Amino acid sequence: MQRTISTAMGLAGRIRLPADKSIAHRAAILAALADGDSTLIGFPDAADPQSTLACLRALGVETTEAEDSLIVHGLGGDLRPPPGPLDCGNSGTTMRLLAGVLAGQPFTSTLTGDASLSARPMDRIAEPLRAMGAEIALAGGRAPVTVRGGALRGIEYELPVASAQVKSCVLLAGLFAEGRTTVIETAPSRDHTERMLGLDVLELGGKRYVSVEGGMRPAAGTWVIPRDPSAAAFFLVAGATAAASHVEMRAVGLNPSRTAFLDVLRAMGAQITVRNERTHGREPIGDLTVQTDGGRLHGLALGGDLIPNLIDEIPVLAVAAAFAEGRTTIRDAAELRLKETDRLAATAAFLTAMGADVEEHADGLTIEGGRPLHGAAVESRGDHRIAMAAAVAALGATGETTIAGAECVAVSFPGFWDELDALAGPQR
Ligand code: S3P
Repeated sequence: MQRTISTAMGLAGRIRLPADKSIAHRAAILAALADGDSTLIGFPDAADPQSTLACLRALGVETTEAEDSLIVHGLGGDLRPPPGPLDCGNSGTTMRLLAGVLAGQPFTSTLTGDASLSARPMDRIAEPLRAMGAEIALAGGRAPVTVRGGALRGIEYELPVASAQVKSCVLLAGLFAEGRTTVIETAPSRDHTERMLGLDVLELGGKRYVSVEGGMRPAAGTWVIPRDPSAAAFFLVAGATAAASHVEMRAVGLNPSRTAFLDVLRAMGAQITVRNERTHGREPIGDLTVQTDGGRLHGLALGGDLIPNLIDEIPVLAVAAAFAEGRTTIRDAAELRLKETDRLAATAAFLTAMGADVEEHADGLTIEGGRPLHGAAVESRGDHRIAMAAAVAALGATGETTIAGAECVAVSFPGFWDELDALAGPQR
């Protein structure tokens, strides 16, 4: 599917965001491992969380659809051997988190994914799971991931890369291990797993120690899934870079391990207001408004321990940087090359095609902002965040931009194109 986007003069309206993908995966998995029924309110129909649900169903977990909720009938930790390979689709979170759970199950199972997921590194989960006693087979460090689970022992594991997926994989395996499992982070990554499991976290000497006791099981209960801040980022940048805008979003997740991009946009000069701060379960949420009367943003330098907090927002922050005055540098972000596609290369490619001045580095980008962007033919490369970031760039570019492979937004934000039409006027 191809979408054609033309220049938007003003943006006004309220955006309905999808529920948070990261929290949805975890809510489904924890509910499946709980003993008894859990209610998931607002579970998203996006492809990635649906992949997790489909895998859990193949592992014997039954679910019932209610009006705007999903009831998960938890198995108390004893999943059933699946009838065949577990298809994780495009979802790295599904594959890496479920591998941790499967390491603790007394059967062999195989996790597969689409072409993009099959190109991503899985040795980062195999290494700690093997140290815990699981047998893991990979194909050249990648999927398919075959997990022969069984008796595990707790480990202390310092993450070699800042990754919430690897952290969560090890902690979920730790539920099934003998003794205590501790994951040590030197740069903090999103903390939904430890929050949702209510785990102990110790911060000492610049490191975070997250521990889980073997044999613990998540409690059955109700999970309200906040709306996705990473999805909000696209419309916040659209609103902040438009000639005139007033864009609202309600009940957006504001977990501090996910909101560095808000601080960055504000530091660039965006007018973003947060109202009605409250909590949904263990997660803070709030209502966001962005508005502008055409003032320009300005560039800045991003790097270091901040990067894992805003890793998913970098493509759209790069779009903000292209519209901003002055230079923006993004460093320490080599992990972006290992996402659904190489997001440093993909972002540099679409921005350059639209006339931006972008230099690519091994671990980041330098963007000389303020050059006028023009419409171009660009590619999503099958990556939802690239398609959406390119659409935001297109709104502020002269002429028409065509985005090939636009259907991939369904991975995290199936309603994206409809919301864009409602905000900017019907596009093709
Ligand atoms: C996620 C963690 C991040 C992020 C991904 C979702 C999660 O990946 O990029 O979109 O839900 O744990 P890494 O932890 O591999 O960096």
